[in-house]
Amino acid sequence: MSNRHPSGPSLVFVVAIAENGVIGRAGGLPWRLKSDLKYFRSVTLHKPILMGRKTYASIGRALDKRTNIVVTRDRAFAAPGVLVAHDLPAALAAAEGDARRRGTPEIAVIGGADLYAQLMPWAAKLLVTRVHARPEGDTLFPRIDPAKWRETERREQPAGPGDDASYTLITYERAV
Ligand SMILES: NC(=O)c1ccc[n+]([C@@H]2O[C@H](COP(=O)([O-])OP(=O)(O)OC[C@H]3O[C@@H](n4cnc5c(N)ncnc54)[C@H](OP(=O)(O)O)[C@@H]3O)[C@@H](O)[C@H]2O)c1
Repeated sequence: MSNRHPSGPSLVFVVAIAENGVIGRAGGLPWRLKSDLKYFRSVTLHKPILMGRKTYASIGRALDKRTNIVVTRDRAFAAPGVLVAHDLPAALAAAEGDARRRGTPEIAVIGGADLYAQLMPWAAKLLVTRVHARPEGDTLFPRIDPAKWRETERREQPAGPGDDASYTLITYERAV
């Protein structure tokens, strides 16, 4: 990973985080946010998407019109429509090759906490849905250090039909 090429595709995290840092509960999401799922789709379509095996399990299927790359240490793991990688360098190499073939400059990292924590040093951009709720949960996103990340966009979203809470869409770009 330390040999990632500076002109190669950049890593973009896509993550919904509650005000208390929670991103997951009991293997799933602690809220229902139908409109945010549409946003998630729009920012990940036609890109390679990188996820941990537990996040894949919570989704339960490959997402369409994206190259699904699942990271697991389980050599026996296989699932329809997904590429399997057994370590992060292999996952990143697969994602970079796919991004080049698709002509997209971005690889979307879609979680979960384990993957976000390991890849955080290489992330260039964070697309954060800040969910205005404080649910109980067992999975947390690391604190976004304001010395390292600069907010470049912010859009308030009222709760629509099918949404448990209002939220703010925030883009952070690496400052240093
Ligand atoms: N709010 C959000 O935006 C959001 C987004 C994504 C997920 N989530 C939530 O987050 C939770 C899941 O997150 P999580 O942190 O528990 O799990 P995760 O990151 O999705 O998956 C962890 C698994 O990935 C594999 N893995 C991780 N690092 C690896 C490495 N370096 N090499 C090989 N394999 C590796 C291992 O799979 P094996 O055990 O198979 O070896 C590990 O158990 C769920 O509740 C989900 O709903 C929330």
